[in-house]
Amino acid sequence: MGQKAFYITTPIYYVNDVPHIGHAYTTIAADVMARYKRMRGYDVMFATGTDEHGQKIQQAAQAKGLTPQELVDQVVVNFKKLWERLGITHTDFIRTTEERHIRVVRYIFEKLLKQGDIYKGTYEGWYCVPCETYFTESQLGEDKLCPDCKRPLQRMTEESYFFRMSKYEKPLLDYYEKNPDAILPKTRYNEIVSFIKGGLKDQSISRTTISWGVPLPGDEKHVIYVWFDALINYLTVCGYPDNEEMVRKFWPTVNHIMAKDIIRFHCIVWPAMLLALGLEPPARVFPHGWWTVEGEKMSKSKGNVVDPFEMVDLYGVDPFRYFLLREVPFGLDGDFSERALVGRINSDLANDLGNLLNRTMQMINKFAEGQIPKPATLEDVDLEVKGLAEETVETYTSHMDVYAFDEALKALWTLVRRGNKYIDETMPWKLGREKETERLGTVLYTLEEVLRLVGLLVAPFMPDTGRRIWSQLGIDEDPYKCNIDDFRWGERESGSKVGQKEVLFPRIDMEEWEKEKAKREMAKNLAPDPGEHEEQITIDDFRKVELRVAKIISVEPVPKADKLYKLDLDLGYERRTIVSGIREFYTEEELLGKKIIVICNLKPAKLRGVESNGMLLAAETPDGKEIALLTVDGDIRLGARVH
Ligand code: MSP
Repeated sequence: MGQKAFYITTPIYYVNDVPHIGHAYTTIAADVMARYKRMRGYDVMFATGTDEHGQKIQQAAQAKGLTPQELVDQVVVNFKKLWERLGITHTDFIRTTEERHIRVVRYIFEKLLKQGDIYKGTYEGWYCVPCETYFTESQLGEDKLCPDCKRPLQRMTEESYFFRMSKYEKPLLDYYEKNPDAILPKTRYNEIVSFIKGGLKDQSISRTTISWGVPLPGDEKHVIYVWFDALINYLTVCGYPDNEEMVRKFWPTVNHIMAKDIIRFHCIVWPAMLLALGLEPPARVFPHGWWTVEGEKMSKSKGNVVDPFEMVDLYGVDPFRYFLLREVPFGLDGDFSERALVGRINSDLANDLGNLLNRTMQMINKFAEGQIPKPATLEDVDLEVKGLAEETVETYTSHMDVYAFDEALKALWTLVRRGNKYIDETMPWKLGREKETERLGTVLYTLEEVLRLVGLLVAPFMPDTGRRIWSQLGIDEDPYKCNIDDFRWGERESGSKVGQKEVLFPRIDMEEWEKEKAKREMAKNLAPDPGEHEEQITIDDFRKVELRVAKIISVEPVPKADKLYKLDLDLGYERRTIVSGIREFYTEEELLGKKIIVICNLKPAKLRGVESNGMLLAAETPDGKEIALLTVDGDIRLGARVH
């Protein structure tokens, strides 16, 4: 029998935006699942990518003065870099502007047109440009705003091609009835089934109002609607229609992961398209919840968009991955806060897991010369820990199989905490002191086996941590390359050397962290550093500059120099003339009578034939486009020194 197959996808993300934690979350979740399946012996195909057509992209490009292709080529790089940084193990990255995809979209369109599942008609409705969605009258509230983004809608009429979705209402309901696990969690399944029961309308799948899309075969004033185009990516990656073997192997196993915002496309439109093509609807669609940030919706205008690059730079890739999947049950909404992330690092990672490894390594080094000891007869407490470890594999896998990532981690941490308690109960340091070598051997061996298992099961979530645990235990392999089903308690050879001990997760000092966070926030609000700074000077250096208050008593343009004025100044004790380059910024009237600050002891210089005896003070931006004179507040005698 061939290897078991598994195909998992993320949505293909729009490239009019930089990636944020919402995108990172979906992709990390899919990655954890992909890694887990590989560790259970599956041949995994894992696809992610970018959705590059449509009105939103066209508009974003226009706003930036770029062609849509230039824009998408620029932005796609951010996504690719982020996936690399987060350790994502996708096997394909698809862009809808690629030739391989456009070919499949056109093929599918023509096939469905030929078989009568696509027809030409006219579309009239309320259209939301940013969401690229039409709404029917019944979907709108009194305000007539977009039900999703609350922006104004446009009334539009256009010739359009339609996909005959209504025809698939009954087949879809039959499919969902026979496959109650096709959509998880159950609440989403119920929501979709009741929506279908409310009746399905044919879907408009072409646009004449925009040009950035796949041209419709045979009627090129239309482009294919971005969603019809985008959903097909899942088949393009699978080699449809040419690579029949790949389709046969992977398609029936496909799992689509996304947030709840786009489930109707994935649970209704897409399965109906697949039924029309004579293919199976997706084996599973798993919509997860929505992340807010400290209680608020993430948005550029609020300035609260969390940058995943920044988070992993600050806290590391593994803690970030762990946090996202541990914090919130997959399927429910969640709230992101850096404080909660730091809390989990300190409690779950440093305190629970880090301590267990640290204490175990310390005692193996101290009492067993850095070698895995031999276990002797197992007492009740040892049997209990061994039993829990074996049970953990079962609990963990049963949760992982249904995307209950948080439950799988909870089960694993129950074992980690049991390990720490086991140390307190058995007191190996006392056994060591009292030379109870046999009993000590059993205890340390038990702890090592717990950690060997923890390193294995933690690997899909925290690949580097899994490796680091094993390497400290002296195991050369990468746990991610092992099969979870092959784990047998007691297989670690006694006598082998452990590796180098190191701190797994340093504790974060909360006081320091508060200070650093405040500094970071302040820095974010500062304007960019202009980058031109002088060396430090002493107060004596400064005193050498003779600054005084002067009044402008006459202003004349300097001939043949459009930036210069000749200014006569009254310093109280004398009159003098200076030349200044402020003509672009002030009129003669504005300057006359102003009290300004002048450097009086500057050596005279000739500017365009006029001698300047000093210089006035003005603030200037680095680009020289803004200038403001320094003037004197209140009444002060002319000639007063400025210190
Ligand atoms: N291009 C379409 C998808 C086409 S798939 C055939 C699209 N793109 S998107 O860039 O808007 O991505 C939406 C997806 O990003 C969500 O379904 C979810 O996976 C992820 N998220 C974006 N913001 C999110 C949150 N605030 N919280 C959780 N996930 C979020 O829709």
